[in-house]
Amino acid sequence: MERFMLTPVVAAELGRVRLTPVRASDTERVYQICQHPAIQAYTTLPSPYEHEHAVSFCEELTRRAWQAFGAGGLPALAGLEWRELVWAIRLSPEPGDDDGLVGCVGIKAWFNPNGESAGYGEIGYWLDERYWHRGLMTAAVKRVLEFAFYPDGLLDYDRVTWRAHLENHASKAVAQRCGFHYTGPTECDGHPAWSAEIRRGDPMEPDDSWQ
Ligand SMILES: CC(C)(COP(=O)(O)OP(=O)(O)OC[C@H]1O[C@@H](n2cnc3c(N)ncnc32)[C@H](O)[C@@H]1OP(=O)(O)O)[C@@H](O)C(=O)NCCC(=O)NCCS
Repeated sequence: MERFMLTPVVAAELGRVRLTPVRASDTERVYQICQHPAIQAYTTLPSPYEHEHAVSFCEELTRRAWQAFGAGGLPALAGLEWRELVWAIRLSPEPGDDDGLVGCVGIKAWFNPNGESAGYGEIGYWLDERYWHRGLMTAAVKRVLEFAFYPDGLLDYDRVTWRAHLENHASKAVAQRCGFHYTGPTECDGHPAWSAEIRRGDPMEPDDSWQ
């Protein structure tokens, strides 16, 4: 799955940060980082987050999604229960070093009831609290958006959507900084939420459509 490694981003004080598909050796770090209450409250991760959840996420669900996507592109994801492509955000500089996962960013592919792509995906992300407030997630999300919009790429989306619980100001700040436009109130796992989207060609710069 190394072909889906993205060009590294550079974050303040952290240097080059790699984005590569999640793999089995990430399990322990994922388990530990996802104990954070904000990650459990604001993402769709199970709560409480058990070790078996991390095993399933790293060794089965995300791996199957990448394998299907690599073999058959977007249509191949339609047949899976887990339809999200998830990149690990890695600080360690050496390719092949499995350590270094500090967070994840993913795009969930949406499909119509007939199994055809709905033409867009929804972005989601979480980060080890030790690395918050450095612009790291903003940089990582922009890189994943480039992948999503890449013309003739395997996704080739026209738009990417985002939702977050109303009190999740950190996630909102990331979306704003990446150029997402506010599209109105919605719900997310039964919670009142903001929704926003960014379209191919929109500048990935702070957006003023938010109230
Ligand atoms: C959302 C998250 C990934 C942000 O990561 P990050 O790397 O710190 O993001 P950035 O540094 O790019 O931007 C963070 C900005 O959010 C804003 N912010 C953070 N906490 C905030 C708060 N409590 N109130 C208002 N704004 C806040 C700030 O503007 C901050 O920038 P600053 O540090 O320069 O002031 C991280 O907070 C996280 O993992 N949260 C828990 C999981 C989650 O909410 N995921 C998203 C689900 S939709």
